[in-house]
Amino acid sequence: MRMYDIIMKKRNGGELTREEIRFFIEGYTGGEIPDYQVSALMMAIYFQKMTEAETLALTMAMADSGDRLDLTGIHGIKVDKHSTGGVGDKTSLALAPMVAACGIPVAKMSGRGLGHTGGTIDKLESFPGFTTSLTTQQFIENVNRIGIAIMGQTADLAPADKKLYALRDVTATVDNMSLIASSIMSKKLAAGADAIVLDVKTGSGAFMKEESDARALAEEMVGIGKNAGRKTIAVISDMDQPLGYAVGNALEVKEAIETLMGRGPADFLELCLSLGSQMLIAGGKARGESEARQMLEAVIADGSALEKLAEFAEAQGSCREAVYRPELLPKAQIIRPVLSQASGYVDHIVCDEVGICSLLLGGGRETKESEIDLSVGLVLCKKAGDYVREGEALAMLHANDEGRADAAEKRYLAACRISDAPPRKNPFIKAVIA
Ligand code: URA
Repeated sequence: MRMYDIIMKKRNGGELTREEIRFFIEGYTGGEIPDYQVSALMMAIYFQKMTEAETLALTMAMADSGDRLDLTGIHGIKVDKHSTGGVGDKTSLALAPMVAACGIPVAKMSGRGLGHTGGTIDKLESFPGFTTSLTTQQFIENVNRIGIAIMGQTADLAPADKKLYALRDVTATVDNMSLIASSIMSKKLAAGADAIVLDVKTGSGAFMKEESDARALAEEMVGIGKNAGRKTIAVISDMDQPLGYAVGNALEVKEAIETLMGRGPADFLELCLSLGSQMLIAGGKARGESEARQMLEAVIADGSALEKLAEFAEAQGSCREAVYRPELLPKAQIIRPVLSQASGYVDHIVCDEVGICSLLLGGGRETKESEIDLSVGLVLCKKAGDYVREGEALAMLHANDEGRADAAEKRYLAACRISDAPPRKNPFIKAVIA
């Protein structure tokens, strides 16, 4: 087999066989096939697209390119969750203890983040002393003992995807539906769960700006999961404005804690209940959505989800008090308002611009080496549809540097559109694809 022939076949619109796809993935991971040939193939795929069979073959080849996490030592049906990412996305911080409190084992590998805020691991490190450096044995013991553990990416999961994603990033070939779906699903399949619930976002703060694209991506990923023998469900939700009110690492942890205390923002709570319901159904703990919702609401009302978060924090090196006394989390020195320059309804908040405000304040990473400031970020005071008077606060900035706060303030004001009439209300949950 020759890489040249594979590139030409795809360039001319042919369908690659499973063997041809394995050949190029194995050759590329092993360093025998150079970047320039794989770049050419990615561009051919970008224009000619891939069939369902090709997409599945690519996913499986990438999932098999490194280690697969063995979760067989964990009792019960393991359900994983994946988010396509957005601004203020603190979902795992509340959802994981909620479903664990309902009896679904949560065994999650998470990452740090590049971008607006850190990833789940950075956010969790807001708890003093918290560590995700667990051995696989500790990880499995913690899940069996308290129902929940999160560790950093130690195993070499789907290395072919890591290499290919980096190459796509610099060759303008990221935004192809089959390549995105296979990239995400290869990592999820290698992470070993029995069922996968996908949190697919759409809107100005999401990867998929258009709802039709989010739906197509969700359908493609659900199809791959099913063909790979894993129960897979996708929930499509709105990311046209930040999720909840808090954007920034420790600020998001506080909002997740508030949610587990029963005082969470409506949109964030709704997302946790929707995703959590699908996880409980997939894990065999509930027969239908209304039963699942009742179970999830009950573990918030009786405090057991919050207690689960406290057990989890303690088991991973922090202390229970950090959960019950959020004032122990990192705090910024400067807290100041962004004042509205007009009266009217908040029509739209350009969501990824809010993410950039958090980045400007120091809450995210621009490069892998950047230091992250866990204490900074923003807390929105007004969201789309709210009325604001001139001089009233649109958001509170949490900063450690006046210059950075000035830059974030300017950017935030430009991201908020104020109008005389209230905007049209769109549904927050757009669809569930199973
Ligand atoms: N996220 C991924 O993991 N892969 C992609 O290709 C795009 C987004």
